[in-house]
Amino acid sequence: MFAHIQPLPADPILGLIADFHADANPDKVDLGVGVYRNERSDTPIMQAVKEAELRWHHAEQTKAYIGPAGVPEFNEGIRREIFGASHSALADRRAHTVLTPGGCGALRVGAEFLLRCAKAVKVWVSDPTWPNHVPLLGNAGVDLATYPYYRPGSGEVLFDEMMSALQAAGQGDVVLLHGCCHNPCGADLSEPQWREITDLAERNGFLPFIDLAYQGLGRGLEEDAFGVRLMAERLPELLVASSCSKNFGLYRERTGSLSVVSARAEQSQAAITHVNNVVRGMYSMPPSHGGAIVGLILGDEALRQSWVDELGGMRERINTLRELLVEKLAQAGASGDYAFIARQFGMFSFLGLTKEQVQLLRQQYSIYMVDSSRINIAGINRDNVDYLATAIAAVTR
Ligand code: LMR
Repeated sequence: MFAHIQPLPADPILGLIADFHADANPDKVDLGVGVYRNERSDTPIMQAVKEAELRWHHAEQTKAYIGPAGVPEFNEGIRREIFGASHSALADRRAHTVLTPGGCGALRVGAEFLLRCAKAVKVWVSDPTWPNHVPLLGNAGVDLATYPYYRPGSGEVLFDEMMSALQAAGQGDVVLLHGCCHNPCGADLSEPQWREITDLAERNGFLPFIDLAYQGLGRGLEEDAFGVRLMAERLPELLVASSCSKNFGLYRERTGSLSVVSARAEQSQAAITHVNNVVRGMYSMPPSHGGAIVGLILGDEALRQSWVDELGGMRERINTLRELLVEKLAQAGASGDYAFIARQFGMFSFLGLTKEQVQLLRQQYSIYMVDSSRINIAGINRDNVDYLATAIAAVTR
């Protein structure tokens, strides 16, 4: 059965982790995989998480099964963060949330659930989108289509082109939107643009599926949820995949959530029984540790405040680095206008380099980024920014 199997190439993002570790150059710079890094290039455990883990160590009484929906305290707490405590979808019990193994788990469970609702489902994804969206959704069996999203050079959203492509999305179609901090391009929808897309969804009847993987790392916890909250208010149905990988730093704990918003409470209740049934047939139930920790943090005022403060510091650092990089690239004489990087949000931006230039940066300078020239802004610090800017200037000249 396995005799004919040939090895696959490394994953375009995760493969960079091993390549970076194997590189002996002391000046190497890791701008590859999307993990937050501090000034020392570490990805520390957040203080609120450490404290909650200590408390949980003493409080946890059993490791017995938890069930497909996961940790109730997590589901309630994260739903409040996503939609806002006073959102009408919560008051009307139209929104239900389950714990999933990361945002990836939420995307896949969401796709499987969609195929329970309709025999054939077309999901429209932005061009470009996070490469893993394709297998996560596509391998479930949905059809994928793309809508234009990003204008290289200006770094802006191709909004008119996006809107005209989405005119073709109607009843039975699903449109995947990045809630904030677009991965890979960093160009986010403005509030008026969210309003226009919501109007279009209302008119044409497509279902938005929002991937909210970076809440709190763009403009702020509330601001980053603007699109989700607006759509949950105005539209009868919505799916939201959220992740605690970046904003709680729980990457390897695989902690995320899937929320289903329906027109009425009974429909939402019914939908979640199908979601739970999908989960039971895929992995039975999610790992609970990350959910327990986030549930504890969100249920404790002091712990939550500590998390909000630390997350705010991470966000400010990323936004400052964006400005610093633009300034340093100009000083180093890099060819091109990079000012758009400071207008974007979240962990990622494209440098707009060719694959050959990206390879040169890797081979000659030990600077690692995805082949598309997506960089993880958080991998920059005051010690490596000059080296980075000089190297980029050299390969773009
Ligand atoms: C990224 O985009 O780098 C992260 O979301 C990590 C991943 O799984 O690709």
